[in-house]
Amino acid sequence: MAKILTVANQKGGSGKTTVAMQLAGCFGRRDKKVLVIDADPQGTAVRWAASAEDGKPFPARVAGLSAAGGKVHREVQKFVDDYDYIVVDCPPAVDSPVPQSALLVSDLVLVPVIPSPADLWAATGIQQLISNIGDINEGLRARIVPNMCQPNTSLARDALDVLKDFGIPVTDACLHLRTAYRRAAVFGGIVHDQGAQARQAIEEVDALVDEVLRILDTPPAAKEVDNG
Ligand SMILES: Nc1ncnc2c1ncn2[C@@H]1O[C@H](COP(=O)(O)OP(=O)(O)OP(=O)(O)O)[C@@H](O)[C@H]1O
Ligand SMILES: [Mg+2]
Repeated sequence: MAKILTVANQKGGSGKTTVAMQLAGCFGRRDKKVLVIDADPQGTAVRWAASAEDGKPFPARVAGLSAAGGKVHREVQKFVDDYDYIVVDCPPAVDSPVPQSALLVSDLVLVPVIPSPADLWAATGIQQLISNIGDINEGLRARIVPNMCQPNTSLARDALDVLKDFGIPVTDACLHLRTAYRRAAVFGGIVHDQGAQARQAIEEVDALVDEVLRILDTPPAAKEVDNG
């Protein structure tokens, strides 16, 4: 049975597709069978995979399923026997039924958050949704993934402190602001394809992958998500 990961945040541009594709690509490179469900009408994940160079396909299958809307959980369930990991990339729209639907069947939801005040305020919406769905899907685990971090700014440090009070645990791994992530989208791959010039990005993505695998390997507590 596939482990199901959803990447969600109503805030646009927080790094959902980046996190979804880096994780899915890493699982694929580790010889796992991986399906990315692009549930965003923007189709960014589908286009990402389509940008891969000839002879070097993206190491996971990417299916555009935005038309499924609030029934995406049913689509996901059709694939659970065929894959090791299913990663659902959600759209940013506040009124989209997709995140709620995907969370119903997910083992883990990752919420990429840029450590800035506006992005933190916007994340309260998804926090509420996760808490509500946690009452129905009691095994659902949730983690905030700090993205586009800039370590030497006091604003970022303050924001990371605020994140810790959020009711959703924050991953130890965080992704910094690096051109390697933009390049990966352009070339339809993951940061690992870029070799030594992307060494720091590769290390932090590997750390995130390892952390995610550890979470998925640990049986969930009775009800994981804090109701606040
Ligand atoms: N850590 C990072 N460093 C540098 N650029 C990044 C990083 N993370 C994401 N980006 C870039 O920021 C932009 C937005 O990222 P991405 O598309 O992953 O966000 P998203 O949350 O999926 O956006 P949307 O809400 O529109 O779906 C992209 O151009 C991406 O390449
Ligand atoms: Mg996206």
